[in-house]
Amino acid sequence: MAIKPHGGTLINRILSGSDREKALARTKELPRLVLDNWELSDLELIANGAFSPNTGFMKKDDYESVVNNLRLADGTVWSIPIVLGITPQEAEQLVIGAEAALYTEENEIIGLIKVEEIYGFNKDLEVRKVYRTTDEEHPGVKRVYQRDQHLVGGEILLIDRRKPQQFAEMYLDPVETRRIFEDRGWKRVVAFQTRNPIHRAHEYLQKCAMEICDGLFLNPLVGETKGDDIPADVRVECYNVLLEKYYPADRTFMSAFPAAMRYAGPREAVFHAIVRQNYGATHFIVGRDHAGVGNYYGTYDAQLIFDQFLPEELGITPLFFEHTFYCKICGGMGSSKSCPHSKENHVFLSGTKVREMLSDGQTPPEEFTRKEVAEVLIKYYKGNVKQAG
Ligand code: ADX
Repeated sequence: MAIKPHGGTLINRILSGSDREKALARTKELPRLVLDNWELSDLELIANGAFSPNTGFMKKDDYESVVNNLRLADGTVWSIPIVLGITPQEAEQLVIGAEAALYTEENEIIGLIKVEEIYGFNKDLEVRKVYRTTDEEHPGVKRVYQRDQHLVGGEILLIDRRKPQQFAEMYLDPVETRRIFEDRGWKRVVAFQTRNPIHRAHEYLQKCAMEICDGLFLNPLVGETKGDDIPADVRVECYNVLLEKYYPADRTFMSAFPAAMRYAGPREAVFHAIVRQNYGATHFIVGRDHAGVGNYYGTYDAQLIFDQFLPEELGITPLFFEHTFYCKICGGMGSSKSCPHSKENHVFLSGTKVREMLSDGQTPPEEFTRKEVAEVLIKYYKGNVKQAG
C-alpha cells in the first residue's frame, strides 16, 4: 500500500468544470491580490496537494506555531511558513469572511482565497527561528525582510494553472507521481532533492539508496533559486544526459519540484522530506549541509533536526549520509564512515574552483563530475561569458 500523505489526506484545491466556471465568474466582483512567482508556486503546491495537509496560506495560529514549534496549530509537523504577504492598500480592500481574487503579475487570474484573517508578524523572530540568522545576506532571510508587513490567511482554490515555460512534461502532481510509483510496483521509493547539477557525490548517495529501495525519485527543485545557482534548464539537461547513460530507466523516475528554494538548511530538510512523502516517496536522502548556503548551518544540522520528531510523526524515513568524496586509494567513493585514508587522498574541489575550471573550458576530474555533465556545464558557462561580453 502506498505511503499516506502527510496529515492523512492528499489535498486537492484545483477547480475544474462548472465549479471552475462559477469561481471564475465570481472573481469579476472581487478585490484583487497580485502574487509574485514565489507565492504563485506556493499556491500551486498547496492546490495540488504537495503541501498537504495545508489547504491555504497560513493563518496566524498555524504561522506562529510553525515558527516557534515546527508544527501546525493542531500539532502536525511542519517546518516552513507558507504565507501570503499583502500591501496596506491591498489589505484595505479585503473583507474578512469574503473572497479575494488572486492574479499573476501579468494580470492573469489564477485563483481565489477566502480571507479568513489578516495579521502582522515579527520578521526578526521568523528569521531567527526559521533561518537561525538575521543576516540579510542570507537569501531566505532577505526574502522575509522584503515581504509585505501583513499576511492574509485562508483557504485557496486554483482556477487556472500557469503553463510551465519549459520542460512541461516534467511537471507532475502528487496524484500522478503516486500513480506512477504504484504502476511500477515500487514499494520503497527514495526521493532526492537537488538544486545543483549531479556530481559524483550525489550519484553515489542515490545509488547507495537505490540498493536498498525499489526506485529512485529524482525530484530537482526548479522554482526560484539564488542568482548564482545553475539555472534549472541547464540542470535538467545534465540530469537527462546522466540518467540516459548511467541509470537503469526502469528504476529511476524524474519530475520537477516547482518550489522556491528557501536555503533554510535544517528546517528546509524537514519540509523537503514531508513534501516528497506527499509525492509518494517512502525514503528521503539528507546528506551534507542539506539546503544550506554559506556557513550558516553545521554540516549535519539538517540531519540532527529529525531527532525532534517521532518516526510516526513523519511517515517518510530520512536516509542520512556523511560527507562523501572520491578516495584515490580506495579507488571509489566513500566517506569518513567507510574510508580509512587521509584527506590528501580525497578528491575535493570547492564550488568556486569547479566554476573556474568550467568557465575556462576545463573538464573537472572524472572522479568529481561525469564528463557528459561537465560538457553541458562548459557549454553553459561559455554561453554566459559570450553574453556578458
Ligand atoms: S540542496 O540545497 O538541494 O541540498 P544539493 O543539490 O547540492 O543542494 O544537494 C542535494 C543533496 O545531496 C542534499 O541532501 C545534500 O546534503 C547532498 N549532498 C551534496 N553533496 C554532498 C556530498 N559531497 N556528500 C554528502 N552529501 C551531499
